[in-house]
Amino acid sequence: MNRLAFDAHNEADTDRLGAALADELPDGTTVALIGTLGAGKTRLVRAIAAAAGVPPDQVVSPTFVLCQQYRGRRELAHLDAFRLNNPDDLFELGFDELVDSPAIVLVEWADRVAACLPDDRLEVRIEVTGPTSRRFEIVALGWVLSPVVERLAERLTQPMDRS
Ligand SMILES: Nc1ncnc2c1ncn2[C@@H]1O[C@H](COP(=O)(O)OP(=O)(O)OP(=O)(O)O)[C@@H](O)[C@H]1O
Ligand SMILES: [Mg+2]
Repeated sequence: MNRLAFDAHNEADTDRLGAALADELPDGTTVALIGTLGAGKTRLVRAIAAAAGVPPDQVVSPTFVLCQQYRGRRELAHLDAFRLNNPDDLFELGFDELVDSPAIVLVEWADRVAACLPDDRLEVRIEVTGPTSRRFEIVALGWVLSPVVERLAERLTQPMDRS
């Protein structure tokens, strides 16, 4: 299984997806975040960070800084390709080293630098389906991450614990 669609009805659902990703993504995974302005790319990174024990207020769109690193239970690197003039500029941000490090590498506007991303990566496409709802299409590119998508699917299709 290499793809999964997850419908978040609200931000709590997005937090649940973030928690599943924080638990299941292997060290060194690149996550390509794709979606329009305000789709929820940064919000999903915040959800992953919170689950990894990083204070969520540390997480902001790295639009000007371009690359931020956080360390909690997991190590995270958060990049934004929106303002890069050339996909190769990604490497000036130390992208090669990040990909070889244990960090989960989260790239906003990844569609702008797709050619520079590792072949094995998790693609997350976010669609705005309503004021508080989002559809997350998650695809494992390459074969390495397929079992991860399987585990995410198992976890996210379980009835929600509303207690
Ligand atoms: N279920 C949801 N999941 C994620 N975000 C949601 C959801 N419902 C509402 N939102 C809101 O959508 C907005 C998403 O903004 P966010 O900054 O994450 O977008 P972005 O994709 O990073 O945009 P940009 O391209 O400007 O960086 C936030 O204001 C968030 O509160
Ligand atoms: Mg953002």
